[in-house]
Amino acid sequence: MTPVAVSLARRAARLRRQIEEHNRRYYVLSEPSVSDAEYDRLFRELEQLERAHPELVVASSPTRRVGAAPQTHFAPVAHVLPMLSLENAFDRAEMKAFDARMSERLARTVIEYSAEPKIDGVAVSLLYRAGELARAATRGDGATGEDVTANVRTIRAVPLRLAAPAEAPPMLEVRGEVYMSKKGYAAFNAAAARRGEKTFANPRNATSGSLRQLDPAIAAARPLAFFCYGAEHVAAADDNAAAFPDVHTDVLAQLAAWGLPVCPHAAVVRGLDECLAYHRRMIEVRAELDYEIDGVVYKVNRIAWQRALGVRARSPRWSIAYKFAPEERTTVVKAVEFQVGRSGALTPVARLEPVVVGGVTVGNTSLHNMDEVRRKDVRVGDTVVVRRAGDVIPQVVRVIAEHRPKKTKKIATPRKCPVCGGKVVREEGEVAARCIESLRCPAQRKEAIRHFASRLAMDIDGVGEKLVDQLVAGGHVEDVSDLYALDEKTLAALERMGDKSARNLIAAIDRSRSVRLERFLYALGIREVGEAMAAALARRFGELERLMEADEEALTDVRDVGEVAASRLRAFFDDACNRKLIARLQANGVRVQKTEVTDEPGPLVGNTYVLTGTLSIPRGEAKKRLQALGAKVTGSVTSKTTALIAGEKAGSKLAQAQELGVEVLDEDAFATLTTRPSSAA
Ligand code: IVH
Repeated sequence: MTPVAVSLARRAARLRRQIEEHNRRYYVLSEPSVSDAEYDRLFRELEQLERAHPELVVASSPTRRVGAAPQTHFAPVAHVLPMLSLENAFDRAEMKAFDARMSERLARTVIEYSAEPKIDGVAVSLLYRAGELARAATRGDGATGEDVTANVRTIRAVPLRLAAPAEAPPMLEVRGEVYMSKKGYAAFNAAAARRGEKTFANPRNATSGSLRQLDPAIAAARPLAFFCYGAEHVAAADDNAAAFPDVHTDVLAQLAAWGLPVCPHAAVVRGLDECLAYHRRMIEVRAELDYEIDGVVYKVNRIAWQRALGVRARSPRWSIAYKFAPEERTTVVKAVEFQVGRSGALTPVARLEPVVVGGVTVGNTSLHNMDEVRRKDVRVGDTVVVRRAGDVIPQVVRVIAEHRPKKTKKIATPRKCPVCGGKVVREEGEVAARCIESLRCPAQRKEAIRHFASRLAMDIDGVGEKLVDQLVAGGHVEDVSDLYALDEKTLAALERMGDKSARNLIAAIDRSRSVRLERFLYALGIREVGEAMAAALARRFGELERLMEADEEALTDVRDVGEVAASRLRAFFDDACNRKLIARLQANGVRVQKTEVTDEPGPLVGNTYVLTGTLSIPRGEAKKRLQALGAKVTGSVTSKTTALIAGEKAGSKLAQAQELGVEVLDEDAFATLTTRPSSAA
């Protein structure tokens, strides 16, 4: 190199170091030492230098955050060590049980924990090779995530190069949470609303949507930030590895020293009382923080003890998330309307004075059914308490009786269908009143079409509510067989559709023409026939024609197909309209594949589960899913129980399972278990 070239290279390297140091001061220490103008000046000088001398550019240069080309998909990434989830505690008793368990297993009276806010964002894993950011991945199912490197590189708080890279282990995997600040989120959503673009329901959804952008330039424009909460030491044992801290909070300090932002509220606490005090303190500061937190995480601080305690299938034994109680707000019921579902069932929906609960604006909420309405005695005009816990759909908890105005309107089931004006009946033993017009009712027709196209059914991506509304209103689709007669031109002429979306949709429709029997069966939307039953029927009968001819006795012979389901199946296939519909689908090119007939009753045979707490699906449904996979479901936890499936607000059964050392699965784990039987077997 010429002397001039050497001096330019030095200058570029010095600028990079300065910018990185300023980033660290800003994002890690929250103590910027230069003005924004000075920072910008350094940044521009580096940009100019690199533009004039492209040979000086290095991948980790702060100027290289944006500029990667849009991707077509996110490549799968197998995590070196699984990305685990956390066990939850919802009250002091559960927290106490956790601490007692740690004390007992570690044979120590007072345990030292790292206490950290539980950041409500999206978990990512960052891989640094020789101190440079080499890859960023989402959690995915814990074993395999998605490669989101190009997007994560655009996040300023994520260093592209560690400070003092020479001291970093050759390979370092950092785990943390990408989030959107509350302020950034508010500004971003407001701007999107002004432009008439999609807004997000909360900062977490905005974060996840931003990380899933195929074009990194879009992600770069989103106000994303990052906190790390741990490191997995991937490097093979060497001198550096030996020097790695042996206490979790020291690991966090080391990560901060390398330029990785750590939540400033992380602290060391000892024993249960300090844990509880920390929890109370975080509830107090929560509103002042510029990021959403939904609880506190405690981790046994000594890493050797973490190792000794080990991990369960989905979560470490040495850590727990003590969640905050769900947020509650009061608001007024302005009206109650009835929605018509796929089976014609009328569901009362409360129109509320919009109110922000747990970071989400709630305007409508289902009242589920008339029994519930009567039980809670909700009337139009009432002031009600609305609650939302995490991902759980907002719900009306109760009416505030003292606030009831003199004039309220009682809620009554409509006599006629609010959509088609058809007759409404409530059958013996059923909770819901139904519109009996079936597919003559546009609401039911639309729901049937959406269900048919949904992910677990025919999996035709892009068939949303708005599109179905237009297809039905425009007379393009009367029943699901018409989907297979659509053409690109018709679709492209619809609102919010372009040539490209039309082409994609046609391709998706085409792909769905060859379909597995269980999916097709489920897609037909026969009452009582869920995915699990559809799968069991497919395994037994193997082909559509045989199933269509099976009598009720043969049907009830299949595990979990009761008399009601069998008679619904028989009635469905006996109905000439339905037979014609199936024939039209086949004439339009739908080919239902044959399935291998197997008496293998399911991948979970021999396993026994217990359900507890509130899951996002009714418990009966959860039970059916497990049974359809061959599992047994019982009511009490014993040492023979394979695992306890615990939803929100799990109580004594959870304590019992923990006592007995029975594995506890959360809702996520349950979903994985029942949707991916092959990997669970
Ligand atoms: S530790 C092995 N610490 O919460 C334990 N997680 O519900 C791994 N989270 O997947 C997690 N803040 O995405 C940990 N300070 C914190 C956290 C945190 C947020 C997220 C993380 C995890 C989820 C579990």
